Amino acid sequence: MSGIPFNIAATDGAARTGEIVFPRGEIRTPAFMPVGTAATVKALYADQVRATGADIVLGNVYHLMLRPGAERVAALGGLHKFMGWQRPILTDSGGFQVMSLSALRKLDRDGVTFRSHVDGSTHRLTPERSVEIQRLLGSDVTMQLDECVRLPAPKAEVERAMLLSADWAERSKVAFGDQEGRALFGIVQGGDSADLRKESARRLVDLGFDGYAVGGLAVGEPQETMLAMIEETIPELTSARPRYLMGVGTPDDLLKCVARGVDMFDCVMPTRAGRHGQVFTRFGKMNLKNARHADDPRPLDEESDCPAARDYSRAYLHHLVKTGEILGMMLLSWVNVAYYQSLMAGARRAIAAGAFSDYAAATTAAWEKGEK
Ligand code: GUN
Repeated sequence: MSGIPFNIAATDGAARTGEIVFPRGEIRTPAFMPVGTAATVKALYADQVRATGADIVLGNVYHLMLRPGAERVAALGGLHKFMGWQRPILTDSGGFQVMSLSALRKLDRDGVTFRSHVDGSTHRLTPERSVEIQRLLGSDVTMQLDECVRLPAPKAEVERAMLLSADWAERSKVAFGDQEGRALFGIVQGGDSADLRKESARRLVDLGFDGYAVGGLAVGEPQETMLAMIEETIPELTSARPRYLMGVGTPDDLLKCVARGVDMFDCVMPTRAGRHGQVFTRFGKMNLKNARHADDPRPLDEESDCPAARDYSRAYLHHLVKTGEILGMMLLSWVNVAYYQSLMAGARRAIAAGAFSDYAAATTAAWEKGEK
């Protein structure tokens, strides 16, 4: 392992708060990582993303290998320089996006061959090539290539994908080698089967990774199933290493999973919702397309630290959304990323104070009460 320190400062039940220390900066946990798929957190400047409190952003092997190409990014000095983000970057390995985005794909034991959703050209990803691409990008956290199965799925299919992912974890570890100052995370699979999840986790822990991700969730199963799978998986993972729940979720999912011991999250939800006129605030979720906002002079949240939530009227934001103005997407994405960061900052403070369940209850009650 690469010796990336994870200092747990406090625990409260299963929840923990601390920091993961990378040469490019610390990640305060629990952390929400905005998704910057194609070397951009959509509609936000890198400085703005930082100002919301984000310590780390995500990039994506699948998108970046297709455009602009990993070798090109490397020749230009790496992904941090390319996108103007000097803090840590986690890159997803590509397998998940191949399955959801590419036109044609053929999976075999060695890797996956697929057609680009951009121009139909043929590409191949293996565990080794995915690790190599992430090295070329200059990723601080490399994710192993894995196979995620959509649920519901037959158990035999879930087991096959879990075993393949375990094999790919081992190959990824060999390919990664020892990269000083950079981390490699393994990914637990196993669908909605507790025994497959446990087996997957044990196989990864036996190999030894810098951190452990839980994949294959929020893929069509009810929240209850997702939470049950997390409860089964977390105790199997090395408690001294960070735990990352991939692709999750709503603010409510985040609070429930922090309570169960998850340290890191990523999701397109805040940025995607923002581009579709939806905002998350202290008062819950709101759709700015709704005509009731057309004459409302109030800001979304006058107490917010985010200028987009504090300094513009709901009437103006409604107008921008209704007319499809670019600024509408920018402002609402900003509101949402800032809200997710403030939610995590509150969680960190509450865990440190030993009051996480009160914090979660008060936050949820405010969403349920709705806006003033
Ligand atoms: N993003 C959301 N879920 C997953 C998953 O299961 N695997 C990977 N690699 N990325 C994800």
